[in-house]
Amino acid sequence: MTRAFSGVKPTGHLTLGNYLGALRQWAETDQHRADSLFCVVDLHALTVDHDPARVRRLSRQAATLLLAAGLDPERCTVFVQSHVDEHARLAYLLECVATDGEMRRMIQYKEKSAREQVRGGSVRLSLLTYPALMAADILVYDTDEVPVGDDQTQHVELARDLAVRFNHRYGQTFTVPKATSPKVAARVMNLQDPVSKMGKSDDTGPGIVYLLDEPEAVRKKVMRAVTDSGQDVVHDRATRPGVTNLLEILAACAGGDPEDLAASYSSYGALKKDTAEAVVEVLRPVQERHRELCADPGYLEQVLRTGAEKARTMARPTVDAAYRAIGLLPA
Ligand code: AMP
Ligand code: TRP
Repeated sequence: MTRAFSGVKPTGHLTLGNYLGALRQWAETDQHRADSLFCVVDLHALTVDHDPARVRRLSRQAATLLLAAGLDPERCTVFVQSHVDEHARLAYLLECVATDGEMRRMIQYKEKSAREQVRGGSVRLSLLTYPALMAADILVYDTDEVPVGDDQTQHVELARDLAVRFNHRYGQTFTVPKATSPKVAARVMNLQDPVSKMGKSDDTGPGIVYLLDEPEAVRKKVMRAVTDSGQDVVHDRATRPGVTNLLEILAACAGGDPEDLAASYSSYGALKKDTAEAVVEVLRPVQERHRELCADPGYLEQVLRTGAEKARTMARPTVDAAYRAIGLLPA
């Protein structure tokens, strides 16, 4: 059976981008057709300035939202990265296979480190080595498929390269994974700045729809979305990024093809109104389930404990094999 693995970082409140680009596909498709693991990757949240209490809170919230989005612990393994030591152990071996040059070429590193320097802050070394840990997350489970939004495909490519290199140098150890992305809304853009990704870590309110936003807040944000100069509704990412983003969101939430939908609107106002309602309807059941889950925190703890146990059992043999292959003496 195909093995799928993916993760979400607890660096902010989860957004509509997380849901349409990742979580929904995990719940609706991946958990049914693959032996899958979904993880709150809390170690990754330590690569940028962080507040320990906030990371703890956001980790719990992200795990709750994974379940609220429809992940079923009877069908897939839901857990927290730091509960399974094997990730960090394998990451070190992969740092010994990766090069400094290939880490520095990662777009996410370039963007985040540049932003940090502008702020006058320092860049954590773990931000540079982040892709080695992410590769470990993936390779430790013999993963075939990694369902992610567009922004993560470069990291998954790197995980592939490291798997191939390790296997070539030290003997067949890892399955070589590939990224899979949803057909529409693989990259949901910020409503106020439609050439930038809707990213949860940016935390600049009005352009970001959060999964737990009240319906009124969602409507307000969508109705105030920046659109393009011109009047006609056209799907074209390059020249009409604002309208195209709304069409993609509408298509992802209500069904249909974004280009066909464009033809059925003659004004931005009507497009915004329908998009807002479609988003509210998509979020409604997730929010309801989230409320129910919050009323029973013991259930989440139980799910995460069982998930970590299952994950550990799967990860252990891979790390043992990698330790042997690379030349470490058995204990
Ligand atoms: P992150 O928020 O970076 O932890 O991302 C978790 C998952 O959500 C990854 O698979 C991302 O590719 C996906 N994702 C995050 N933001 C967006 C977005 N704006 N559009 C589509 N997918 C996204
Ligand atoms: N880097 C991913 C992100 O920012 C999160 C992540 C960490 C991940 N490890 C992973 C995603 C392994 C897929 C597989 O979204």
